[in-house]
Amino acid sequence: MINPFLPSKMKILDIIPETEIDQTFVLAGRKPVKPGQFFQLSVPGAGEAPVSVSDFEDDKLFVTIRKVGRLTNALFALAPGDYIFARGPYGNGFDYRDYVDSDLKVIAGGTGLAPVKKVIKHFIANKSIASLEVLLGFKTPQDILYRREVRAWVDAGLATLTVDKAGPDWSGNTGLITGYLKNLDLSNLENCKFIVVGPPIMIKFITIELLLLQVPEENIWVSLERKMSCGLGKCGHCKIGETYVCLEGPAFRFARARRLLD
Ligand SMILES: Cc1cc2nc3c(=O)[nH]c(=O)nc-3n(C[C@H](O)[C@H](O)[C@H](O)COP(=O)(O)OP(=O)(O)OC[C@H]3O[C@@H](n4cnc5c(N)ncnc54)[C@H](O)[C@@H]3O)c2cc1C
Ligand code: FES
Repeated sequence: MINPFLPSKMKILDIIPETEIDQTFVLAGRKPVKPGQFFQLSVPGAGEAPVSVSDFEDDKLFVTIRKVGRLTNALFALAPGDYIFARGPYGNGFDYRDYVDSDLKVIAGGTGLAPVKKVIKHFIANKSIASLEVLLGFKTPQDILYRREVRAWVDAGLATLTVDKAGPDWSGNTGLITGYLKNLDLSNLENCKFIVVGPPIMIKFITIELLLLQVPEENIWVSLERKMSCGLGKCGHCKIGETYVCLEGPAFRFARARRLLD
């Protein structure tokens, strides 16, 4: 029997710099995975942490990592040709079938874009929804992830991009992401579904606005970040009440997430 706690080695094929503190690692050896699921990544001696899958194609898996501490420092010291250890994927992820025929709005702040990037790419390529609109917010222009793709989405009229604080070379939108909800086409509100990912404070204020607009809680999905350890429903680190976020989440309909956060 395969030990589910045993990580496997994944070779780093490429490292794509995104910002000063974010890098996308391209790993060889794709495992069956859904957007919104996560892997427990580790480097011997430096620990282990959950990281969302940001993309996958053929036999490649992409993870975008922010350098914040012990493990991520160790990951940033690696180079193409080195190996990362990975367990997973874990969690439920986003289910494409939940959004079929809807007017889907994806609202992402900062690194929250990573777990939904593949959802956006999927629905651009696959016309199974009625429409797609994306609203993206970053702290500054330097913090924008996936610049080439984000630029293409904006140029195609698919995405609105804003930064909290502009720099001298920035001529785009500025201000908090909540201020740009008005840019979304909500004329057919009963057919709209929303995925909201980002820092907890952003999720809080976006969902308040959506509920004021009378969006049903069932039509809003959020992703909850909790401290994880096993990822397998065994250790209880991620538990809120009776809910194991690592198993039943991290993606939840807001109707459920709200009860977990209350
Ligand atoms: C489901 C899920 C998905 C995730 N997906 C991603 C992802 O796609 N990409 C990503 O980058 N992260 C992701 N994370 C977050 C990631 O797991 C954490 O950032 C993780 O803690 C990093 O591990 P670390 O050992 O590098 O940091 P740690 O050393 O554990 O540090 C974690 C936090 O502590 C702070 N800290 C560290 N050292 C100090 C210090 N000396 N003094 C004060 N504060 C300190 C850091 O600023 C950081 O905020 C995800 C988390 C979850 C739960
Ligand atoms: S992380 Fe161990 S039970 Fe969820």
